[in-house]
Amino acid sequence: MRSLPVGSCAPMRIRPYRWLAQYYDQLFSPLRFPMDTARVRVLGRILPGVKTACDLACGTGTTALVLARKGIKMYAVDLSPHMCQLAREKADRTRLPVRVLRADMRRFWLPEAVDLITCELDALNHVPHRADLRTVAKAVERALRPGGHFYFDVNNSLGFERYWSGTVWFEKPGVAVVMRNGHNSNADRAWSEIEWFIRDGRCWRRHHERVDEVCWGSDEVRRIFHKTGFDQLRAWDAAPFFKNNSRIGPGCRTIYLARKSRG
Ligand SMILES: C[S@@+](CC[C@H](N)C(=O)[O-])C[C@H]1O[C@@H](n2cnc3c(N)ncnc32)[C@H](O)[C@@H]1O
Repeated sequence: MRSLPVGSCAPMRIRPYRWLAQYYDQLFSPLRFPMDTARVRVLGRILPGVKTACDLACGTGTTALVLARKGIKMYAVDLSPHMCQLAREKADRTRLPVRVLRADMRRFWLPEAVDLITCELDALNHVPHRADLRTVAKAVERALRPGGHFYFDVNNSLGFERYWSGTVWFEKPGVAVVMRNGHNSNADRAWSEIEWFIRDGRCWRRHHERVDEVCWGSDEVRRIFHKTGFDQLRAWDAAPFFKNNSRIGPGCRTIYLARKSRG
């Protein structure tokens, strides 16, 4: 695969997770506990009334399964066929009521209106254009019942400065990953050029993958959700949930809870 020069701000297009899907749970497990804690804290009072929900950009389906275990009828949506496949396999193994749908979060449709939509681990930053926040907000609004909630977290530009810069190296048995991260503060964009080294018998195979993110300020988030039919938006700084991760400091990541208007 062609490698883009480090530091370039390439034209944005969606690149579905491929190798990242295969090794996602192994590599990103340390983020699970803080995200689970934040969800329990923010959604604690709402969850007992939730009968149907959707995890948007569900990845390998971990959150969808957590919610399904609480007796919630779950939909799980992701654009990456590899992520959808993994989420389906997990759901099949556990026999929990999770229906996995492959779709773009900007244009997804669910078979029924749901009480809650979640979108975790900065998945919302993964859209290609700044204008896509409004498109996703509209699609989410359409998929929720009146009074339903949208729970999501985003990387802010301070987060881009803190952890979307420099080179990060991970190693697990049979796989080594080098992530060369960059950001452009003026354009509110960040990217990661990822080099995979995957053991194949006695050989190591190299693969390339790229992830792009775009970010929005809190005023912009507030304005867009207000204009797309949400009458309440509450926000929490994510730093207290990431106490063991010094890179995710105050102001880096925000958790939001938006409520669709009842009227
Ligand atoms: C950082 S992962 C988060 C996965 C999951 N929410 C979690 O908490 O583990 C981002 C996910 O967003 C998905 N994604 C990226 N762009 C998307 C889009 N336009 N529509 C739906 N899913 C998308 C990726 O395939 C990936 O699974």
